[in-house]
Amino acid sequence: MVSRVIPVDPFDLVIFGGTGDLAQGKILPALFRRFCAGQWAEGAQVIGAARTDYDRDKFRNLVRNSLESHAGRHSQDTAALNAFLQRVDYVTLDAVADHGWAELAQKLQPDRVRAFYFSVGPRLFGPLAERIEAYDLTTPQTRIVVEKPFGHDLESARALNATLAAHFRESQIYRIDHYLGKETVQNLMAVRFGNMLFEPLWNSQYVDHIQITVAESVGINGREEYYERAGAMRDMMQNHLMQLLCLIAMEPPAKFDPDAVRDEKLKVIRALDPVKPHHIVRGQFEGESSSYRKAVGNPRSTTESYVALRAHISNWRWAGTPFYLRTGKRLVARSSVINVMFKDAPHSIFGADAGRHANALSIRLQPNEGITLKVTIKEPGQGGMRLVDVPLDMSFAEALGAENQDPPDAYERLVMDVIRGNQTLFMRGDEVEAAWAWTDPIIAGWQARGDVPKPYESGSTGPGDAELLMKRDGRRWQGINP
Ligand SMILES: NC(=O)c1ccc[n+]([C@@H]2O[C@H](COP(=O)([O-])OP(=O)(O)OC[C@H]3O[C@@H](n4cnc5c(N)ncnc54)[C@H](OP(=O)(O)O)[C@@H]3O)[C@@H](O)[C@H]2O)c1
Repeated sequence: MVSRVIPVDPFDLVIFGGTGDLAQGKILPALFRRFCAGQWAEGAQVIGAARTDYDRDKFRNLVRNSLESHAGRHSQDTAALNAFLQRVDYVTLDAVADHGWAELAQKLQPDRVRAFYFSVGPRLFGPLAERIEAYDLTTPQTRIVVEKPFGHDLESARALNATLAAHFRESQIYRIDHYLGKETVQNLMAVRFGNMLFEPLWNSQYVDHIQITVAESVGINGREEYYERAGAMRDMMQNHLMQLLCLIAMEPPAKFDPDAVRDEKLKVIRALDPVKPHHIVRGQFEGESSSYRKAVGNPRSTTESYVALRAHISNWRWAGTPFYLRTGKRLVARSSVINVMFKDAPHSIFGADAGRHANALSIRLQPNEGITLKVTIKEPGQGGMRLVDVPLDMSFAEALGAENQDPPDAYERLVMDVIRGNQTLFMRGDEVEAAWAWTDPIIAGWQARGDVPKPYESGSTGPGDAELLMKRDGRRWQGINP
């Protein structure tokens, strides 16, 4: 099956922080892959902007090197690489001074989509927004893209929203949560709302519980200072896991349009109960070769590198169905999976010997994106009726052919959505604030109690208490498999 590529309108995309890790490792490779796919219109250009005193050729060299490391097989296509680099420009510019802004203004075309990607630390969002306005760079087709972290708590998120709102309309602001750009996450919506099969069962009557796991095998390399202030709760739970929870739990929106989808997600966050202290487990990795405290150079650090919790959504659909969420660093494998665990059949006609069997729908985000439905069938062979659970695998690569072996990176989808002007997969300001409003009391509780995270072995599945969180409820986590 060959996927269709619909070219976007001509655009000028300015990446503030164009020399930084995110721009070089994610944004530019994503733009290059979309260029190779034929999605760029004639004349579209990307302009890097940062303080480093580069000329255009030096910046192009930097981009070439980054693409060779990060853009996969496409970077071996020298003709495409050279053609792409012709569309790359650079301005030496300071977000907090006037240097470079007049030059940037000259490079922008008046009648095309104009996107400003704020790939810089959040303290620069305000100064950038002010200068975009002061230099009269905003046109009716202007959008800005902002990265996580969107605030540190509710108060700072409100302040950031207010800063941006002073210069841009909400319809111009694209807050990135790259999990929403993952192909499987979008597929989750297609599976839920494009089929008759699942939605009637998608409630507390049939779903026993839901598990959301975002496990990372890496540590916090290069981000020690930020991470020590943030921890797993702020870095992952408040945004990525919360967004996944929303998509799993939300009511069907009337339309697949930005506000309809985001209204439903917001209702889920607002229906979340406060989390009870004994429903949360915090952990911190330790071990001979990699210890969190050594990594951050703070032998008394109480920042969590792991968090698991049990959440409840107080609404008609989900009352009584717990949602177990966990995320952590230096775990046994890199694996992000949502498991929808259905209830047992109400009565087994096969007798007690047949054991307990329940359906499970697993939505794998990484690696090997795909969806698996576990169903119960008869074990082949003669002699009695033995039951066995087998996966019905909807792996995209197999189902959709070789061309889909390499699903688009989340940033490819998201950056093109910015150009198209489609905000569906971006967070709205009120969503982010509601997520902080749920998270803040949890963190404040830890601080008030002087909570210390439980140690867990690097390369394990997390602290033993996280197993207990499930065991107490007569349930268990699904494995963390690469
Ligand atoms: N890296 C990731 O994978 C990742 C993932 C998710 C979110 N983020 C977020 O994305 C943002 C950028 O992260 P990063 O990892 O790319 O950071 P980084 O590597 O430190 O890059 C920061 C960029 O900002 C530029 N910059 C700094 N001060 C500036 C100023 N006054 N005026 C203009 N440019 C300035 C830097 O270039 P000069 O020094 O040349 O000015 C550099 O290009 C951060 O908000 C981060 O939290 C990053």
